[in-house]
Amino acid sequence: MEGVVNARMRALLTAIGGIDRCITEFVRITDQLLPARVFHRLCPELEQGSRTPSGTPVYIQLLGGEPGPMGENAARAASLGAIGIDTNFGCPAKCVNRHRGGSVLLDEPELLYQIIKSMRSAVPQSVPVTAKIRLGFNDDSKLIDIVSAINEAGANALTIHARTKMDGYKPPAHWHRLAKVHNFIDVPVIANGEIWNPTDFQECRRASLCSDVMLGRGLLARPDLALEIKSLAQGKEYQRQQWSNILVLVDALFSDSVANCAPRHVGGPIKQWLGYLRREYPQAQQLFEQIKRLNTAADISAALGEHRGYQETVAA
Ligand SMILES: Cc1cc2nc3c(=O)[nH]c(=O)nc-3n(C[C@H](O)[C@H](O)[C@H](O)COP(=O)(O)O)c2cc1C
Repeated sequence: MEGVVNARMRALLTAIGGIDRCITEFVRITDQLLPARVFHRLCPELEQGSRTPSGTPVYIQLLGGEPGPMGENAARAASLGAIGIDTNFGCPAKCVNRHRGGSVLLDEPELLYQIIKSMRSAVPQSVPVTAKIRLGFNDDSKLIDIVSAINEAGANALTIHARTKMDGYKPPAHWHRLAKVHNFIDVPVIANGEIWNPTDFQECRRASLCSDVMLGRGLLARPDLALEIKSLAQGKEYQRQQWSNILVLVDALFSDSVANCAPRHVGGPIKQWLGYLRREYPQAQQLFEQIKRLNTAADISAALGEHRGYQETVAA
């Protein structure tokens, strides 16, 4: 998730467990072959066999509308050690769509075919090329054409965010509309959108007829959601993570920001994460209120210490 889930977040979230695969933020491809440093910046895991520190594979995501450059850049990513390459045909951002990238391409299934075909032929067969789409741009009338094109082009998996670009992020996600695509594709279809808890997961699987799902905001709000889903699927009892455990992760993210962000941006990453966590944890809302107007590392660190102390007193 662009601007939210970078390598540090991937490391924190995959350490909890339950996640089979991560996708990077998108690498924007126009007409140029990008230098290696761009791929390394968005996917530092390339240095570690394209895996997070806990061993979860990370695919690099490319976003672009020109088959040639998408193929060339996919080849470069593979040569740098990418173990999978995903393609973003779902981004709804106007600035991206205006420049022929993201969801606007869903109106041109033939172009999607050309892009995936170009990437598939440029990359060794051992490296999966996958695609992420929405149901369509204005509506889902082209969904079967899109899915067939991506299948014909040789993609190895397809993730479908169960909304159109026009739906934006407005609930609900239309999981049931994925059910009809399975006859038109030979590779796994992964359902995505509005999975916030294990019940959503089960309902999404039932309605979409997909075995696998991609989690977005749900995992940020409830960092052990993938582990919980997996445990329950294996018939194991699951005890949800307490706020005290999540707070350790928030602390770790803050320490990373202190080490790596410009001083004025040091609070940004944890404020952003607390914005998701407060959906599940009332304590995250309290902490967010405490720090939302603080900007310096010292002030935020003091507020975190105060919050931690208060939580420990309450727990004692
Ligand atoms: C802030 C933000 C950034 C996102 N960035 C990306 C991205 O870089 N690539 C991508 O494929 N999807 C991106 N998405 C879309 C999510 O991957 C996902 O499809 C969408 O949020 C719906 O799933 P969810 O309801 O589980 O969050 C982004 C979504 C948000 C909210």
